[in-house]
Amino acid sequence: MKATKIKTLLHDAPVETNQKVQGWVRTFRANRFIALNDGSTLANLQCVVDFEKTPESILKQINTGAALALEGKIIESQGKGQTIELQVNTIEILGPSDPDSYPIQPKKHSFEFLREKAHLRVRTSTFAAVMRVRSALSFAVHQFFQSHGFYYVNTPIITGSDAEGAGEMFRVSTLDPLHPPKNEAGTIDFKADFFGKETNLTVSGQLEAEAYALGLGEVYTFGPTFRAENSNTARHLAEFWMIEPEMAFYDLNDNMDLAEKFITYVLSYILENCKEDLEFLDDRLTNEESSKPQAERSQMGLLEKIRFVIENDFKRVSYTEAIEILKNSTPNKKKKFQYPVNNWGVDLQSEHERFLVEKHFNCPVILYDYPANIKAFYMRRNDDEKTVRAMDILFPGIGEIVGGSQREERLDVLQKRIKEMGIDEKELWWYIDLRRFGSVPHSGFGLGFERLVQFATGMGNIRDVIPFPRTPQNASF
Ligand code: 4AD
Ligand code: MG
Repeated sequence: MKATKIKTLLHDAPVETNQKVQGWVRTFRANRFIALNDGSTLANLQCVVDFEKTPESILKQINTGAALALEGKIIESQGKGQTIELQVNTIEILGPSDPDSYPIQPKKHSFEFLREKAHLRVRTSTFAAVMRVRSALSFAVHQFFQSHGFYYVNTPIITGSDAEGAGEMFRVSTLDPLHPPKNEAGTIDFKADFFGKETNLTVSGQLEAEAYALGLGEVYTFGPTFRAENSNTARHLAEFWMIEPEMAFYDLNDNMDLAEKFITYVLSYILENCKEDLEFLDDRLTNEESSKPQAERSQMGLLEKIRFVIENDFKRVSYTEAIEILKNSTPNKKKKFQYPVNNWGVDLQSEHERFLVEKHFNCPVILYDYPANIKAFYMRRNDDEKTVRAMDILFPGIGEIVGGSQREERLDVLQKRIKEMGIDEKELWWYIDLRRFGSVPHSGFGLGFERLVQFATGMGNIRDVIPFPRTPQNASF
């Protein structure tokens, strides 16, 4: 007999039919009630065993964590908490599990503990819900772009250029680290390396996406990105997924409009398609918040926050306006910021971003027109010669979720900027070439996928929204 997913059974409720299910035991009560979960949905299926007819040797193997195949009849449930249940006729133990050493017991475990059991944590309700929402968000990302005429492009993972110019890259090399070949100057001879040059894991697919936008029109990437920044925070990963749309003929305003429409779309999609999981995560968050002191509690629940972002326009504020607000803010005057804001030109720290989003505006904020000196070389220079057409989207509880810009399409201005910033022009020859042949105004942005999943699920730590997180000193699994 072919097995049916629990999600389908709970939805269709085919009472009085014989069915087979396969899954993992969450709990087994009173030698009679198995709560079986197969990952297809949040809810377990209650499966009722006739212990008088079941051999002791089988009963002994029905333990939390064991994998079973069960056949029987679906009937209306008399008990509370479920509408149907499976009256079990046959039990097959597919994969036994030692109840004493199985780490995921039917009780509350801390997320820190579960991170050390990342290979098993998806068998908890919270992680399974987060991963289902993550999957739905990925689908929505593709659906949004595909239905708006964008083409999906795959940009290289191994690259020779540092797109962001931040120098936070992981080297890719096949040289023997103990005996690397040296050149005459005594430094490592990368000509002898696999690619005949120094290469790294990419920090962004943007530069290559630009090349494709200037031919396909509107494109997007959705792939892994790597950053060797030593940031041990709840918002940084060394390996994360980024979505980078890139559009020919878009200026910065078009770019902001698209980003807002895109975020609104994917959040609406999960509200529609992940109701059960989101309600569960909403309750989880409310519970977590209730253990915090009143003053630190979030004003809104998870679903409320998602709806709020969908229903309200993002506030658009220039960097210069933001600096004025911050300069005159109470925490700045009372010296509460770790980094005081005194002058135009300083980079914004996350404490400043959080103040703007969570205290001052109380909604998502798009900051634009940043000082050129704190942004990457490729951003289009404004006529004031001081600022560039950059935009960052800041979210409550998350901080920066999107970074983007209009790109510098003028050959001479770009070349000048590359020189000023001391970047090796030779590595970027092809990128500069794009400004020689049919260059047009174009724009794009990058959205950190895990930060979006964090927002959508209310998870406090980014390590808990990706299956196997990579962070400093941690690449287990
Ligand atoms: O602001 P970033 O560095 O922008 C770029 O890489 C541009 N090339 C994007 C573009 O215009 N095509 O990164 C974009 C986003 C950030 O806003 C943040 O959401 C996320 O990527 N991000 C990270 N997410 C998790 N861990 C990290 N270490 C991240 N660094 C950036
Ligand atoms: Mg950024």
